[in-house]
Amino acid sequence: MAALGEDLLGVVNKLQDLVFNTIGNDSLDLPQIVVVGSQSSGKSSVLENIVGRDFLPRGSGIVTRRPLILQLINVPSDKSPEDTVPEAPTSLAGVGGGEEFGEFNHMPGRRFYDFAEIRREIESETNRIAGANKGINRQPINLKVYSPHVLSLTLVDLPGLTKVPIGDQPTDIEKQTRTLISEYIAKPNSIILAVSPANVDLVNSESLKLARYVDPAGKRTIGVLTKLDLMDHGTNALDILSGRVYPLKLGFVGVVNRSQQDIQTNKPMDEALAAERDFFRMHPAYRNIAPRCGTRYLAKTLNTTLMGHIRERLPDIKARLNTLMGQTQQELASYGTDAFIGKEHRGSLILQLMTRFATSFISSIDGTSSEIST
Ligand code: GDP
Ligand code: NA
Ligand code: MG
Repeated sequence: MAALGEDLLGVVNKLQDLVFNTIGNDSLDLPQIVVVGSQSSGKSSVLENIVGRDFLPRGSGIVTRRPLILQLINVPSDKSPEDTVPEAPTSLAGVGGGEEFGEFNHMPGRRFYDFAEIRREIESETNRIAGANKGINRQPINLKVYSPHVLSLTLVDLPGLTKVPIGDQPTDIEKQTRTLISEYIAKPNSIILAVSPANVDLVNSESLKLARYVDPAGKRTIGVLTKLDLMDHGTNALDILSGRVYPLKLGFVGVVNRSQQDIQTNKPMDEALAAERDFFRMHPAYRNIAPRCGTRYLAKTLNTTLMGHIRERLPDIKARLNTLMGQTQQELASYGTDAFIGKEHRGSLILQLMTRFATSFISSIDGTSSEIST
């Protein structure tokens, strides 16, 4: 699980630790990433590729029938996780050594080390609540994945927008899915991955319509164009990918996910990613923009967007660290000279070290020197 970038991972985890240990809550408040699109446009495939693990049910027809809230939780491999993970669940005791596992809210205490088993549990839990006949249920499935290789971040997989009711679906299924999806993407803290299949005219893209409604300026929407391999011969999506068709500040990224046949033959993710890269490099229309195409580039775009978000949060974090420093120094002063031998002194040293770290961290991503003055 490294698709989100080891650099960002290191930096953000350090900052998250710092903020958690000083300010005392998760003030970094990273955005959640939500995929939206019509049914079978490739949402689950895209999400899975971003996480870098096979664990989501995918397939033609309606597969995702309940929201899946996937919380990635970074567990440092070198420390005791109880010390560093906010709200560490009791069951986390003894984790370490680079283990990765998933745990569902509906099955507390049971650790899934096998990601294929996670997928099977998502399927059976979907059937349990939403029935086996294509029904959709708004009650989310909550899955936490603990790993040393992830950013502590939330991703949401959603049922697709559907027009015509099938199976157990009610007559107002379109309205229901629309409302459900809107609730997730309306949150200003959501980054929207608006998925559209390249083999359907973009004018008909439901995801872009919905995204525009909640994010009219297109500031937190990333367009994802799937199924580029399935376009009619002689056509291509260069215009869309170059931003000449639909305005989105964060742009469009084209991807090629695994096909239904790839799913049936269990094509491994790394093979699929290699094939995707070759697709763009060899394609006469995309050759020149190949570095800005594909899953890897999508992950990079997401990294940049997350960094931007963190940068926006920094002034607030700085202000709070300043207040904290001020308070601590006042406290120290009130202790008089004794403070320099007791454990308060040790506390203040740690705080100073952290502040120094924060200052250099902030200036390194700010691109400006930003002293925390006390
Ligand atoms: P969702 O319903 O939007 O979550 O879509 P899924 O990820 O479940 O994918 C639906 C179907 O489309 C599956 O059979 C996938 O294999 C297929 N699919 C998704 N993306 C692509 C793609 O880029 N190329 C091809 N050929 N098939 C894709
Ligand atoms: Na599907
Ligand atoms: Mg899906």
